[in-house]
Amino acid sequence: MNTLLLKVNPLKPDAKKIEAAAQIIQRGGLVAFPTETVYGLGADALNPEAVLALFAAKKRPLDNPPIVHVADPKEVQRLVAEVPPKAQLLMDKFWPGPLTLVFKRSEIMPKVTVAGLNTVAIRMPKHPVALALIRQSRCPIAAPSANLAGKPSPTTAQHVYEDLNGRIDAIIDGGATDIGVESTVVDMSVDPPMLLRPGGTPFEALKTVLGDMKLHPFVQAEQELSSLGEIRSPGMKHKHYAPKAQVILVEGNVSAVTVKIRELAESYKVTGEKVGILATDETQTAYHADVVKSLGSRSNLSTVAQNLFRLLREVDAQNVDVIIAEGVSSDGLGLAVMNRLRKASGYHIVKAE
Ligand code: TXA
Ligand code: MG
Repeated sequence: MNTLLLKVNPLKPDAKKIEAAAQIIQRGGLVAFPTETVYGLGADALNPEAVLALFAAKKRPLDNPPIVHVADPKEVQRLVAEVPPKAQLLMDKFWPGPLTLVFKRSEIMPKVTVAGLNTVAIRMPKHPVALALIRQSRCPIAAPSANLAGKPSPTTAQHVYEDLNGRIDAIIDGGATDIGVESTVVDMSVDPPMLLRPGGTPFEALKTVLGDMKLHPFVQAEQELSSLGEIRSPGMKHKHYAPKAQVILVEGNVSAVTVKIRELAESYKVTGEKVGILATDETQTAYHADVVKSLGSRSNLSTVAQNLFRLLREVDAQNVDVIIAEGVSSDGLGLAVMNRLRKASGYHIVKAE
């Protein structure tokens, strides 16, 4: 398959190119497009064959449903059984934006789109290209992140191309994404609502609106899920964000982390292994390794979120044997960053004291 590349101005996308992409969606094809979080791989959510092709292109297990994207909060009505008042509050406050809500689904949702569950995850993105594509396609768009299953999510069209060229119909290139980690997923089919995946909308911001809200134990897990009770989100049990190299995450206070990473880097060097380090602006000069990159500033975790997936890919591309990453605080976007780093490490976590 020849993958068509459509370059657009992210703020004011060319109507002809959006129309071309929308026609592909309407005939059951697959189009990757930018959202404010990461690039999504879109298909008509109400067309079961299109959604099946979506799973195949990504090599995604069929038991892990994609997020359904709408361009208008009113669209939710026909996709869900009911909109609980608390969900309405969150939609009013945070949509369009990086927040996905899980509802009891309606009968019109095809089984494959919801992976056989009785719920559906829905979000209204903020990115002008995403909104234009959904409107022009005249259907809700099922869109998981546009990476091969298990790889870091794509924050540029180039990342999508590396993973999916030849496997999908088109890529709309709208430049690098703004937030860099995926949307926050909150289950509204239970009360109190439960945060299933931390992301672009901070937990603290959701709590100020909802008051009572739970954090699924998996969100801050430091080990495999099996010991943590019920799996609420199918994505929890699959391998994620994993580069080719082994990732080691070092957590603790900054000075202890720096000392520990220097020690670890030295021990790998002795055995002849190629070492990459993901540091922060504050610590980067403390390290000597084959590759050292800064994720961003510890005092501005949104920059760390923005750079995270790109740097995991970049360091991996240098064919290092091991990537040692610094942990950051779990405040604000830090909760999403730490969740992704822990998963990327396969829970290979070292506590520095
Ligand atoms: O920012 C994002 O959310 C991006 C962009 C493209 O919008 N999309 C994204 O989709 O990250 P995906 O498919 O990679 O992640 C969707 C997550 C998975 O962890 C999945 O298990 C969960 O949402 N999910 C989907 N439907 C669900 C449901 N009915 N109940 C619980 N979790 C669900
Ligand atoms: Mg994903």
